[in-house]
Amino acid sequence: MSNKSVLAYCRPGYENDTANEMTTRYGEVGLYGYPVSKKNSGFVLYHLYDEGQLGQAASQFAVKETVFPRQLIAVLASLEDIEKEDRVGQVLECLKDIEKPFSLFGAIDVEYPDTEDGKTLAKFCKKFTVPLRQALRKAGWLTAKENTGKAKLHIFFESFETCYIGYSLPTHASKDHLGICRLKFPIDAPSRSTLKLEDALVNMLSAEQQQKVLRTGGRAVDLGACPGGWTYQLVKRGMYVEAIDNGLVADTLMETGLVEHHAVDGFTYKPQFGRVDLLVCDMIEQPDRVAKLMGDWLVKHWATHAIFNLKLPMKRRFETVEEAVALIKTRLNALEDGFSVKVRHLYHDRDEVTVTIVRTSKDEV
Ligand SMILES: C[S@@+](CC[C@H](N)C(=O)[O-])C[C@H]1O[C@@H](n2cnc3c(N)ncnc32)[C@H](O)[C@@H]1O
Repeated sequence: MSNKSVLAYCRPGYENDTANEMTTRYGEVGLYGYPVSKKNSGFVLYHLYDEGQLGQAASQFAVKETVFPRQLIAVLASLEDIEKEDRVGQVLECLKDIEKPFSLFGAIDVEYPDTEDGKTLAKFCKKFTVPLRQALRKAGWLTAKENTGKAKLHIFFESFETCYIGYSLPTHASKDHLGICRLKFPIDAPSRSTLKLEDALVNMLSAEQQQKVLRTGGRAVDLGACPGGWTYQLVKRGMYVEAIDNGLVADTLMETGLVEHHAVDGFTYKPQFGRVDLLVCDMIEQPDRVAKLMGDWLVKHWATHAIFNLKLPMKRRFETVEEAVALIKTRLNALEDGFSVKVRHLYHDRDEVTVTIVRTSKDEV
């Protein structure tokens, strides 16, 4: 069945927020449509009113420029009532009716929602990939060898009976299966929160930005630091950290000699030497309060760069993020410097989003 829509994967429970974001963002650039989603399904379909705009939608936003989507796929067709026998044949049959957007795709990924139900499909999807890949190569859809520089074909199984067939562009897609970057918990880290900051450092900063922001011998402030998962990531990279929290910082971190602990309020703390390279903040507080505080530090140049979480309310989550980030951007835009601001609901985030702000010269942004 022809089904010209954009499919977004998201964290289960965030379908409404993802749908809101897609409707707003695509609407702003004239790609009008309507979202369809089921609660806790882990995905949203944004149906385009004008099917001819699918190519434009596919190249409009990179996943890393969005907040809630983990992956964005331009859907060419959907298949329902798939029978158990010869699923490969049914996918090929469906592709016959599709006008190819590219002469050849470079790879395929057979995927499923990140839900409990979705997990029951994982084994099947993995097994199904091999014969499907071979059949698609034979049918002239795929390059003979995997080519990550070309568009990727995604077959997304909502259930054993229903799937969506679409593509993503290498420049715009998440490179990860299901759009999920799984990180290994470092056994010597003091809390699982450490993975939130690692996810941000690895997936939100370019290699060049990482070098700039995480200088060995550089200085950082960690507001709401205890027990020290975020401080751990900074210390691991050779930074000195002022850890601010009334709680206790893990002894292993204090023993490195790189951490100073101050048991004071993060909202009134000032950097020891007037300025730090990086401010990080994971305090559980109202997002507008945190946004204001981060803005203060950047405007006063107490911190060159900042990485922080905005904790999300139960409702109006997309709007809350938009408002908090707009508040900061308005203040930063009035400054001489340029700033690269990114906001993502990362795999390791829960009811929060991560914001990275990297200071650059105005022309670099
Ligand atoms: C989610 S935990 C931080 C976890 C930490 N990032 C880690 O990786 O281990 C939030 C912390 O913020 C601290 N906190 C909350 N409000 C604060 C404030 N006003 N000043 C300083 N710390 C605060 C709490 O004591 C708590 O330890």
